[in-house]
Amino acid sequence: MMDNFIYQNPTKLIFGKGQLDRLPKEVEKYGRKVLIVYGGGSIKKNGIYDNVLNMLKEIDANVFELPGVEPNPRISTVRKGVEICKSEGIEFILAVGGGSTIDCTKAIAVGAKTDVDMWDVVTKKERASDGLPFGTVLTLAATGSEMNGGSVITNWETNEKHGWGAAPYTFPKFSILDPEHTMTVPRNQTVYGIVDSMSHVLEHYFHQTSNTPIQDRFCEGILTTVMETAPKLLENPNNYEYRETVMLASTLALNNMLNMGYRGDWATHNIEHAVSAVHDIPHGGGLAIIFPHWMRHVLDDENSARFKQLAVRVFGLDPSGKSDKEVALEGIDKLSEFWTSIGAPSRLADYEIDESTVELMAEKTVIARPQYGNFKKLDKQDSIAILKASL
Ligand code: NZQ
Ligand code: ZN
Repeated sequence: MMDNFIYQNPTKLIFGKGQLDRLPKEVEKYGRKVLIVYGGGSIKKNGIYDNVLNMLKEIDANVFELPGVEPNPRISTVRKGVEICKSEGIEFILAVGGGSTIDCTKAIAVGAKTDVDMWDVVTKKERASDGLPFGTVLTLAATGSEMNGGSVITNWETNEKHGWGAAPYTFPKFSILDPEHTMTVPRNQTVYGIVDSMSHVLEHYFHQTSNTPIQDRFCEGILTTVMETAPKLLENPNNYEYRETVMLASTLALNNMLNMGYRGDWATHNIEHAVSAVHDIPHGGGLAIIFPHWMRHVLDDENSARFKQLAVRVFGLDPSGKSDKEVALEGIDKLSEFWTSIGAPSRLADYEIDESTVELMAEKTVIARPQYGNFKKLDKQDSIAILKASL
């Protein structure tokens, strides 16, 4: 039986070609003193920055800027943004970029309305009770941050990376998703985004709740569609329809619609966050390496049916004459092969990570709690085993 649940997603999704035109109307509902937050400059090269500023001119917005949000956004940048909001009396924040820019914006929005340091909120020592309104113009299909209340922030001084959220304050008021905005995403980031969105579906898929046939089919539908589309998109990176499919898939993968009535696993994300907290690697790259090893580590006789279902329905394997575990293992190999085939990394060595930091990374996986993962409970020893297998 499913768990009881309440579903509410307050984000207005504005999807499609030319939808940036709606920006002035959406922003003016909240104010004209606007802070735009963006990353290392891709939006200046591809023209999105100019288009956004032109749109904001239509409502005579008073625009402030916070550039330079890092991939794996840092608490130091959040603090800079909070300072601008407070000193300038910012009324609305607009994130223009990928998941890092959006996650940073979520923390700035909450930080603007509190006197406590945002790291205490991220580490859950303090609770958020307010936030500035913010919206997003998404430029990279990957995290789903554009339609969820989660944010992931790194503290580079302590080598910690934590997910946090404070609904409803960390949900964007609106998100504008124009697939055209993702045309300039380089090949490697496109691949990481594909891996990340598939990983979100897989994190959901591995759960212990019975009777989730609709949710299973939703997950399998998204996985098969992304796997069909990804190679074609990488061949034709300027194809609008492939970009559009991947963009919608990544939003649906983590807007909490797939996991109605159950709780997914999320151990792999916990391990990946520990790896990037120490080595600052791209999130999707880390997931491609760790996910198959998490699967092999947790697979046992009791839980193999779920792996078998994935192998048969998503990877099209024929189960006849094989044990559930054999089919499960073949399915895991197929997943690895697929990610390798689109150019994702498969070993931590690809990022020059060796055994010397395994203990440190494993320590980071249990910093918030001694056990993690919902499909199967894991502890530090499991982290060490999975990380060593991933080397
Ligand atoms: O910084 P700029 O110059 O903009 O370049 C970015 C960055 O270098 C570039 N990029 C983005 N859009 C582009 C583009 N380049 C050319 N054309 C465009 N249109 O791509 C690079 C990566 O951007 P980033 O925002 O870091 O990527 P992503 O969206 O994958 O976000 C990763 C962050 O999100 C967190 C990850 O841990 C990581 O910190 N996550 C957030 C989640 C959430 N809030 O729900 C869930 C995820 O599981 C994940 O943990
Ligand atoms: Zn992710």
